[in-house]
Amino acid sequence: MNLNSTLTSMIDLSRKEDGTNDTAAFAKDVAAGLSLKQKDLPSRYFYDGKGSQLFQQIMNLPEYYLTRAEHEVFTTNKDAICSRFAGEGFFHLIDLGAGDALKTKILLRQLARQQADFDYVPVDISGDAMQQLTQSLQTELPEVNVQAVVGEYFKALQWLQKHKSERKVVLFLGSNIGNFEKQDSIEFLKSVRGYLSHGDRLLVGVDLKKNPDVILPAYNDAAGVTAEFNLNLLRRINRELGGEFILDQFRHYAMYNPLEGVMRSFLISLKEQQVYIGATGKTYHFAAWEAIHTENSHKYAVQEIEELGGLCGFGTEKVYFDKSKGFADVLFYVA
Ligand code: AVI
Repeated sequence: MNLNSTLTSMIDLSRKEDGTNDTAAFAKDVAAGLSLKQKDLPSRYFYDGKGSQLFQQIMNLPEYYLTRAEHEVFTTNKDAICSRFAGEGFFHLIDLGAGDALKTKILLRQLARQQADFDYVPVDISGDAMQQLTQSLQTELPEVNVQAVVGEYFKALQWLQKHKSERKVVLFLGSNIGNFEKQDSIEFLKSVRGYLSHGDRLLVGVDLKKNPDVILPAYNDAAGVTAEFNLNLLRRINRELGGEFILDQFRHYAMYNPLEGVMRSFLISLKEQQVYIGATGKTYHFAAWEAIHTENSHKYAVQEIEELGGLCGFGTEKVYFDKSKGFADVLFYVA
């Protein structure tokens, strides 16, 4: 932080060098996913402008406890958390999947109060979200230097390694880790570890295994916002890829498997139908009641997340819980 002249800038890594955007990759992933025996679409495509807006609404729903729980963890422990990473000189605070950074702002305010020497690097695939975040930070926390990065995690991490060489504290909040398949979460954490050095930290927000009666409504809310969020994927395919999905011929369905600790979301075809998607040049057949799997949200036991960190080159420094012990933020050090 520099009290005399703060800087705010944004870098967009979402465009390819040849000038094209990611539509071709989207079309390829959709064609591959809808050609599988068990149809599957990657949940990362939820987050177009409308999807990001709907996710903001989800975070405010009475049933979606995750955001409030992490908010509480930070409000209660902000001093302790920030003291752990602010005492060792300048650092980059890198927020992977920052979104509106509502929770991170609790830490940012605390760090500013402590006059910590840092800059803030929010990373998100949504350019709109990063635009809004940088604007809101300029008014709310003008003393913090901000360098927003628009792009996917791995591209952003590569860029950061090249351009941000000082000590790093990486935030991966909000149970985002839960949206990875188990094997992908290992690869992801190992690759984050690869970009870090001794003295760096990683703070991961994880939703813990708990009563399914609490988990299930969080992904199947009474107002139907999560259903809209899920169906928006088809709307996005229609708009960006020339798809011909009729949205009310599909429904949102979510189920929790307590054996695996995973919440799974699906879009289910209400009748037998054919759907043409222009950008893929193909028509896809859906049997009546056939499901497209769209998302996994993994829930962890504390021991499991610590083991996962250990497997990827991290040691547990401290675990912070909300008061119901249903959510944890785990502070890892580089082992
Ligand atoms: C972003 N992610 C952590 C959310 C979750 O809880 O898995 C996405 C979400 N999907 C449905 N509701 C929220």
